[in-house]
Amino acid sequence: MKNFNFYAPTEMFFGKGEIKNLPNLISRYGKNVLLCYGGGSIKRNGIYDSIHKLLKDCTIIELSGIEPNPRIETVERGIKLCREHNIDVVLAAGGGSTIDCAKVVAAGVCYEGDAWNIVTNPSKIKAALPLVTILTLAATGSEMDPYAVISNMKTNEKIGTESQYILPKASILDPEYLYTVPKYQTAAGTADIMSHVIENYFSTEIDTFVQDKISEGLLEACIKYCPVALEDPENYEARANLMWASSLALNGLTGCGKNQAWSCHPIEHELSAFYDITHGVGLAIITPRWMRYILNDKTVDKFVQYGENVFHIQNTGDKFTVANEAIDKTEQFFKDCKIPMTLKELNIDETHFEKMAEDAVKFGGLQYAYVPLNKNDVINILKESL
Ligand code: NZQ
Ligand code: ZN
Repeated sequence: MKNFNFYAPTEMFFGKGEIKNLPNLISRYGKNVLLCYGGGSIKRNGIYDSIHKLLKDCTIIELSGIEPNPRIETVERGIKLCREHNIDVVLAAGGGSTIDCAKVVAAGVCYEGDAWNIVTNPSKIKAALPLVTILTLAATGSEMDPYAVISNMKTNEKIGTESQYILPKASILDPEYLYTVPKYQTAAGTADIMSHVIENYFSTEIDTFVQDKISEGLLEACIKYCPVALEDPENYEARANLMWASSLALNGLTGCGKNQAWSCHPIEHELSAFYDITHGVGLAIITPRWMRYILNDKTVDKFVQYGENVFHIQNTGDKFTVANEAIDKTEQFFKDCKIPMTLKELNIDETHFEKMAEDAVKFGGLQYAYVPLNKNDVINILKESL
């Protein structure tokens, strides 16, 4: 196990009605609040009204219309609002897109130059306004992590930045807020949680028993509870477990002692950058194809561990049989959750594969992944996903 530093200081308020803590939390930082949200789901499910009631003594300025795959132009709009209204604290109410946009707004206010610079060069982030989040979708882990992913659709770039300054100070997680999440987003969010775990689980470090067991537990939780939430959207137990899995999958815990680049995320980010697709759907399509592509004599034991401990496959002696069954079950799980499992279903063809593969290697550091991937490898994985 490599040396590591685990730092996850976000204060988590989890459970029914925990939004009651909002006034106290906000008052730690001031009265001028930038409320960030997306296309309006928080207005339809009542969260918006609750926020306004609870913060009646604050001045609330709104950054609305944050897109899934948030755009740099929206970040710039938020920074302008913060400066004009002397904002003290940023409040994000939504999924990963809203939280990510809010993070870069919070950092951008404290940066003089072009906001895109702090996306492409995280070391330029030297300070940020305090950020509080209210999570409404179990998926990205942004509610408890130092990452933000922003898109520049003009240049077909979708890039992740990272800084401890943008870690949320506190996050409110009420599983009842997930009741209105559509089935498609519930499934895609679960695929994202699983991918975060899988990216860390498949690692060259072989002595990380604790991290692996935590990972297997999180994967089992997703496999158990996503179908329940799809069938019965107001099942509290299912929503609560998926919500907590979202935070634990990417708060650093499963990646401790295993620092290496990820594999499927850089490829998916290219799909989103060119075709604006739902992140978790892209991951569900890529993941089983990547697994088949990297399965070999060196990696097979890890796939056997995955098959035995996550899908409880009986090991009859042939490692590759177990490994392939585990990969098939991964793919079948996503299919059963009604995720479209080919790029063709998303109207994606080979047109941009060359450029996407080049950028995935360039921006995603795929040469340092579990099994290093070059441009041709990425093209092959994308072709397998058609
Ligand atoms: O915009 P609104 O109206 O709120 O609707 C959203 C959006 O259409 C809707 N939604 C969210 N909560 C809802 C709801 N609808 C009904 N009821 C609710 N309670 O769901 C749609 C998708 O929302 P979005 O925030 O885009 O989804 P997600 O949380 O999956 O975030 C995806 C973004 O996060 C990035 C992705 O690349 C993508 O840009 N990621 C961020 C990461 C991070 N910060 O650590 C890591 C991830 O790997 C990922 O890259
Ligand atoms: Zn993700």
